[in-house]
Amino acid sequence: MTAFPCKPALLMALALLTGAAMAPAGAQSTVAEGQKLAFDRGKGNCLTCHVIKGGDLPGTIGPELKDIKAKYPDRNELVAIIFDETKRNPQTMMPPFGRNRILTEQEINAIVDFLQIL
Ligand code: HEC
Repeated sequence: MTAFPCKPALLMALALLTGAAMAPAGAQSTVAEGQKLAFDRGKGNCLTCHVIKGGDLPGTIGPELKDIKAKYPDRNELVAIIFDETKRNPQTMMPPFGRNRILTEQEINAIVDFLQIL
């Protein structure tokens, strides 16, 4: 019974510690994951149409992806573009990655994290 009063404090300390340790690392790895997905020819394949800093052999069918955060401060807008750009532009060449299930919601979110540092 002596251990009982200590438990919540211990749990709280643990939560604080792991939270502090994981927040920056977690954010970084989503950006890295997003870049990997964006550059992966079998996944996002964004380089086929977009110049993206750090990517090899880009195509130029779409606009260069840069200063994205300034252009789209609302990340939901970016999610929407990647999920299904035909909603904004029925004539677009850009595949509806979300609607066609080329990318999961989680993968799209990681790519958006990456786009926001461009
Ligand atoms: C087959 C070509 C193609 C592929 C592949 C493609 N896009 Fe696009 N994308 C376009 C085109 C073309 C546009 C211009 C807008 C339009 O057509 O509606 C565009 C527009 C965008 C925009 C808006 C840019 C701006 O400056 O307004 C973003 C963001 C974007 N694409 C992200 C991506 C991401 C992320 C991927 C990979 C997951 C991707 N695109 C893959 C063709 C493509």
